[in-house]
Amino acid sequence: MAYKIVLLQLNKQNTMSEELFIAPGAGKKEIYESLIPQLASLIDGETDLIANLANLSAALHDTFGWWWVGFYWVKNNELVLGPFQGPIACTRIQKGKGVCGTAWKEAKSLLVPDVAAFKGHIACSSSSVSEIVIPVFDQHQQVVGVLDVDSERYDVLDSLDIEYLEKISQLITISFHSTGTN
Ligand code: SME
Repeated sequence: MAYKIVLLQLNKQNTMSEELFIAPGAGKKEIYESLIPQLASLIDGETDLIANLANLSAALHDTFGWWWVGFYWVKNNELVLGPFQGPIACTRIQKGKGVCGTAWKEAKSLLVPDVAAFKGHIACSSSSVSEIVIPVFDQHQQVVGVLDVDSERYDVLDSLDIEYLEKISQLITISFHSTGTN
């Protein structure tokens, strides 16, 4: 919680400086536990959706060093590429297609330890070998987008990531409630 206080103080001073604080040598669970309150502070009070998704992507990418992390957002009944960090990616995904479109259609998180084993996987990058997709819900429990994480390693993404990335997805849902994010 000390981390959160530092971030809030920076905001109060109205400086341009925003920094994440992660204890050196922390394990994955500990990293998420310290990161999530900081992410909540980061998007707290900001009503612009693109700004929040951009900062969340950057924070996750900086913290974990994943190959690709970002958002696809539902527009006119398809997923459209949103803010992300990593190599250029496919711009549109149909409902039920690929890992992202399947997570949207089924409204559930998907862990794909080996993308070669997922029928219909969309290979935006041949370097990506494993993937997690987490739906983002609005306040009416409708899927409005997905958070997509890709790794170039087989041994990085697991159920702990699902558990905590779902909490991060919930931060976005909460921001719809509290600020009328648009
Ligand atoms: N692999 C995803 C497509 C998005 S990119 O990986 C960024 C899928 O199968 O839906």
